[in-house]
Amino acid sequence: MAATDLERISNAEPEPRSLSLGGHVGFDSLPDQLVSKSVSQGFSFNILCVGETGIGKSTLMNTLFNTTFETEEASHHEECVRLRPQTYDLQESNVHLKLTIVDAVGFGDQINKDDSYRPIVDYIDAQFENYLQEELKIRRSLFDYHDTRIHVCLYFITPTGHSLKSLDLVTMKKLDSKVNIIPIIAKADTISKSELHKFKIKIMGELVSNGVQIYQFPTDDEAVAEINAVMNAHLPFAVVGSTEEVKVGNKLVRARQYPWGVVQVENENHCDFVKLREMLIRVNMEDLREQTHSRHYELYRRCKLEEMGFQDSDGDSQPFSLQETYEAKRKEFLSELQRKEEEMRQMFVNKVKETELELKEKERELHEKFEHLKRIHQEEKRKVEEKRKELEEETNAFNCRKAAMEALQSQALHATSQQPLRKDKDKKKAGGWSSIYSVTIP
Ligand code: GTP
Ligand code: MG
Repeated sequence: MAATDLERISNAEPEPRSLSLGGHVGFDSLPDQLVSKSVSQGFSFNILCVGETGIGKSTLMNTLFNTTFETEEASHHEECVRLRPQTYDLQESNVHLKLTIVDAVGFGDQINKDDSYRPIVDYIDAQFENYLQEELKIRRSLFDYHDTRIHVCLYFITPTGHSLKSLDLVTMKKLDSKVNIIPIIAKADTISKSELHKFKIKIMGELVSNGVQIYQFPTDDEAVAEINAVMNAHLPFAVVGSTEEVKVGNKLVRARQYPWGVVQVENENHCDFVKLREMLIRVNMEDLREQTHSRHYELYRRCKLEEMGFQDSDGDSQPFSLQETYEAKRKEFLSELQRKEEEMRQMFVNKVKETELELKEKERELHEKFEHLKRIHQEEKRKVEEKRKELEEETNAFNCRKAAMEALQSQALHATSQQPLRKDKDKKKAGGWSSIYSVTIP
């Protein structure tokens, strides 16, 4: 027999034997123990509200929990979608609920809505990541950890009566593997009954044809299977929110009053508010919490751990070892680090070479420029020298002429001073003639 077969036989657990008890032992109180432990520990529930600005998110939250949560209105001019969580401590009877309402502020207000879903997805992932980090800690304290994972996303659909906007479809598609989505038609009092009926059918058709998975109320628990099945057929709920109280008959009810009549929030003929409250809070709150942990968080955790290199063993291979995975991952990381280092070094060397070449080229250009200037300078110098020689020659010529003229002038002067004496003599000789000396300067 093969060793693995023997191992399997020795590892196989024996079938437990059924025995009857002789009397009351007391472990039938286990469910009660569980309840009292949970009650003393308290619960947390986190709701994400996604819908365009002013669609009635805050009003619906106030109406659902019958209180006034402090909220500020969004401005319609947000540059991008921003997630705003607010946590409240609520108590009903002896049950404490830590409720976090996360508002997707500015959703649908940007001109370019391509990335509107991204901050929402990132926020949901960040809460999963926080939980995973806590789980992976050596000293973890999951018992009193404030779980901020989103348990439900109420997606507020604008009551257009037409069809879903592409933003709605894209966002819901991106969110459906990360969170339980309950779509609701907001401000349902602004749409007529027959239009609402057609609108609901259209929305469900579009969700199905686009493969968007919305949260289905569970039908595996007998106690709630029937009501949940009925309610699944009513999705998406068409709701009206109001914090005003109006007198109807002799009772004060929450309603919206119009000149033509009163829309009662809790009247099932007027809207599906009661159905939403039943399904969300009174029947399926625990299932939403559980689905978040066992389905959405599990998926996130699996992908994340696989990304980190962990994997489960298949039937035949060795059991999964944290140590080995860690070692393998470490080696992979080190070789990646080395590869990156080598890449950077090579890049640096290339850069230095490039700079060196550039510098050499610059030097050559400068040298050429210098040589060119030198040639120009020599040419100029030669021309100046020629000019100087020319001038020198001219000066010499001038000086010669000047000397000649001076000589002529002095001759002329000498001649003039001798003239009266000679005049008399000449008069005597030639009978008297006058002459004019003309001097021509060359
Ligand atoms: P931001 O937080 O600013 O995005 O708005 P919001 O989505 O929280 O809307 P909010 O609850 O502040 O309501 C905006 C306006 O819509 C208010 O004037 C509400 O009275 C009105 N409103 C809220 N719910 C309903 C509803 O069901 N029907 C009608 N007709 N009006 C509603
Ligand atoms: Mg609000």
